[in-house]
Amino acid sequence: MKQQLTGPQPRIVAIANQKGGVGKTTTAVNVAGELARRGQRVLLVDIDPQGNATTSLGIAKASLTVTTYDLLLGNASPETLPLATGRERLDLIPADQELAGAAVELVGVERREWRLHDGLVPLLPRYDWIIIDCPPSLGLLTLNALCAANAVLIPLQCEYLALEGLAQLKTTLERVRESLNPTLRILGVVMTMYDGRTNLAQQVVDEVQRYFPRLICRTLIPRSVRLSEAPSHGRLAYEYDPHGRGAQAYALLTEEVIGREERTV
Ligand SMILES: Nc1ncnc2c1ncn2[C@@H]1O[C@H](COP(=O)(O)OP(=O)(O)O)[C@@H](O)[C@H]1O
Ligand SMILES: [Mg+2]
Repeated sequence: MKQQLTGPQPRIVAIANQKGGVGKTTTAVNVAGELARRGQRVLLVDIDPQGNATTSLGIAKASLTVTTYDLLLGNASPETLPLATGRERLDLIPADQELAGAAVELVGVERREWRLHDGLVPLLPRYDWIIIDCPPSLGLLTLNALCAANAVLIPLQCEYLALEGLAQLKTTLERVRESLNPTLRILGVVMTMYDGRTNLAQQVVDEVQRYFPRLICRTLIPRSVRLSEAPSHGRLAYEYDPHGRGAQAYALLTEEVIGREERTV
């Protein structure tokens, strides 16, 4: 069960899809960055042992002393965990390989699906948004994200069988709602790596549009080399290529995310 909380609460959004390479991390870091640019106080939580969100922000894993692992295991007081990212209003709880062990170490621990939620409670007053970058699986780490979150944003790559993966994920989310977190909502499905020159991409978008008209975000994230280059420079899209199509798409998506969240109040 979620803890009962009083006062204004941040929006907590998990970026999830059990498939790897669909644009979760790219979406998590760029939406977090855009929210911060719009004056929102943002905490990005990296809960993927690959630590790609951490690296994408230009933070060296070798420099880390405490990570999401310590939050989940209760090894450190939560207030000490958020790192400044060098960007105004954008903090990060980073991750590295150590987190891979957490799933095993948490077996048998009380409230093991709620460790992230419980750990974040003391940090809630500091932020307007908490964005969680999930690993590519539906294991205990993702479950922790789904229990801590109010909403899920699902990046879906414009490719063959995308709809099948989405149906699976929806079933899982339904189960999480029934058994663990009844307040979890789907914020939206964002189509990523859209290549307007191919028929397939358009067909996939049309199909998702047909089956999930209310879930699909209007903003399509284009396939963009600049977007894929930015993380290797430790830069966000708007820092690396501010006028690029990728950066612009993530700015529009962020507006849409804010709008969708406002409608649910
Ligand atoms: N819109 C895009 N256009 C081109 N490359 C992208 C785009 N989005 C993500 N990528 C690249 O695709 C790879 C997988 O994206 P990533 O966001 O890491 O996915 P996930 O977190 O779901 O595994 C990364 O190399 C990333 O830079
Ligand atoms: Mg990722």
